[in-house]
Amino acid sequence: MSLKEKIGQLCQLCGDFLGGNSEITGPSGNVNISSEDVRLIGSVLNAMGAEEIKALQDKFMANHPHHIPLLFMMDVINGYETIFPIPLAQSCTFEPSLSEKLSRVASKEASCEGIHVTFAPMADLVQDSRWGRVMESCGEDPYLSGLFSAAMTRGFQAVGLDKKGNIAAFVKHLAGYGMAEGGREYENCEISMRKLLDDCMNGYTSSINEGVALAMTSFNTLDRIPSTANKWLMRDILRDKMGFDGVLISDWQAVEELISHGVAETKADAARLAIEAGVDIDMMSDCYLHELEKLVNDGVVNEKLIDESCMRILKLKNKLGLFENPYKDASKEDEDTYILCDEHRELAREVASKSFVLLKNDDSFFPLKASDMTNTAFIGPYVYTKRLYGAWSWVDDEDKNVITVEKALKEACENVKLARGSSVLNIGTFAKDFVEKTTENELADMYTQAVKLAKECDKVVLFLGEERNHSAEASARAETRLQDVQLELLKRVYDVNTNIAVVVFSGRPVDLREILPYAKAVMMAWMPGTEGGHAIVDVITGKKEVSGRLTMGVTHTPAQMPLTYRHFNTGRPCFKDYDFNFRTGYNDYPNTALYPFGYGLSYTTFEYSSVTLDSAILHDNSCINASVTVTNTGERKGSTVVQMYIRDMVGSVVRPVKELKGFEKITLEPKESKTVTFKITEDMLRFYRIDMSYGSEKGAFTVYIGDDSSTENMTIFTLE
Ligand code: BGC
Ligand code: BGC
Repeated sequence: MSLKEKIGQLCQLCGDFLGGNSEITGPSGNVNISSEDVRLIGSVLNAMGAEEIKALQDKFMANHPHHIPLLFMMDVINGYETIFPIPLAQSCTFEPSLSEKLSRVASKEASCEGIHVTFAPMADLVQDSRWGRVMESCGEDPYLSGLFSAAMTRGFQAVGLDKKGNIAAFVKHLAGYGMAEGGREYENCEISMRKLLDDCMNGYTSSINEGVALAMTSFNTLDRIPSTANKWLMRDILRDKMGFDGVLISDWQAVEELISHGVAETKADAARLAIEAGVDIDMMSDCYLHELEKLVNDGVVNEKLIDESCMRILKLKNKLGLFENPYKDASKEDEDTYILCDEHRELAREVASKSFVLLKNDDSFFPLKASDMTNTAFIGPYVYTKRLYGAWSWVDDEDKNVITVEKALKEACENVKLARGSSVLNIGTFAKDFVEKTTENELADMYTQAVKLAKECDKVVLFLGEERNHSAEASARAETRLQDVQLELLKRVYDVNTNIAVVVFSGRPVDLREILPYAKAVMMAWMPGTEGGHAIVDVITGKKEVSGRLTMGVTHTPAQMPLTYRHFNTGRPCFKDYDFNFRTGYNDYPNTALYPFGYGLSYTTFEYSSVTLDSAILHDNSCINASVTVTNTGERKGSTVVQMYIRDMVGSVVRPVKELKGFEKITLEPKESKTVTFKITEDMLRFYRIDMSYGSEKGAFTVYIGDDSSTENMTIFTLE
């Protein structure tokens, strides 16, 4: 291959440049590419459909000097056409195996549509729900998000990329993108080396250990170096330390953006920095395409770097079997068989029902009884909306496949009483491409009808929420409260009927201050996907239990963020909330979340015994067992997530006050008890010590076992 042809492989453009249609997921329009340039590129993003992709591939290969097939990549995040709950919701199931299963389904649907590679899993750790992309994450805990990113990677890739139904996965965004300062999108990350290595890296490492085929750089800077130009991060850490040998891509236009960051003066500088850092593919800029050849010819960039990158890309094409079959699994017939088939829908319904988190349930408001169904007013814009999907779902507003809450309620009960109540958005506002055309008069009518209905009924369930585009890339929000129109609806309904529950649809934990005083019950339903309506009705009617647990704490106010339960003690720790006397924290709000990591109610109650150990001494090569007995003390069968946390009491550097180290989801009949045992081994106690070596330190540890991260149910052991 000529130098120009090799550089072509390193360039990725969206389908439009080849004459197709594609979803635009970043700034476009200023990419300076000619049709001659397009002839040599290596990969395409966000083109869709078996027929379209086959046609693009045919035309492209016929014109390519060596007939090298294109790679087709796409953001298949939580499903392809059968849409599952957003990753944040998936993590609330505390069942990584479900995410593996649904990623398999997504992979099967995407592959028959001609997709070879997905830009998932996103393994960014998060601590600030003002950031719009928390919905794509698996929450604030490194251990749990690592389990989920590993499971998703297994789900997409399975064994053998060339096998039918498998697509290559991407781990993204390296590194630390979720730590964007102030939750502001694309913001810099000023985090310590230990925070990066001990906390943020686990999600990425877990996916790499599962053999993820590709990785993506992040938009942010780390230690004031943009990731896409960070040689230390990409070569020393990602490749050498983490052992990643796959293809590394820049995020959308991130190579060119090195100029805006102010580390490159020209596109040539940007291309040089990125290729030296080891970025194989330049997504959606012309830096590589137009600058690398001259840089090599002038002796500035070593051609060996181009060869290495090109070879990695060709190897991936080979692993996917594209040289034998450039369409891979693209098949119109399979599309018709698999897309949105009953089996896929059934899984979507199951995962969604397990992802809901019940935060408050006074007077056992939920589950509704059969006799409640005709005496309850079901009100709110989320009764009717079809927009129950996370932002990375390529479905339109008129999507016929989504099960709305309205449809599911009518299936559950013929004479159900419904009202819209309000628009989703305040009048005159919009959310990205979503515009509602509600007038003041229409809104007034909606309020009137809702209030009338609420007056006539015993109970009210309000279905409220964020517009789905309010939690997305480039959708950071300083305020995470719901829209005024919806909060006003809640207050008006409360004036006539105080027996209210609120079901919240959102991509992030929202500010509940203006909801909790009016609601006896609050359920987080997240963005539940295609079967969202069925799933929420299954759960609120008690046909299925509620079992989700928060993987990101719900704070009292967004002003508390960033916040995590895995914080450190200061020299003046705050032991009790509102203990102001020369203690760490605010004087007006507690230091902890309102509902912490791991929290969630069930329809029954559980009691935990104290923690017992089979030995209070742990030796390097042995293990000890920590147990509790959990009893279902309520009247219904139910599940809970038994969680084990460990604290290293004294370290050479300060250690988190608690870290999740194990969990088990159990289901118990009324009055049934079960003993749950966790094995503790030395490797669970490792961290980056004072000299940056990775290992444990001898001494005392506290082990906590309980039903959320605030548990004080504990005992002590020693590592000798
Ligand atoms: C996002 C990535 C995504 C890419 C391609 C970027 O804007 O940050 O997560 O994979 O676009 O759509
Ligand atoms: C303050 C210092 C002060 C010292 C003696 C400390 O609590 O942080 O600024 O000088 O007390 O009063």
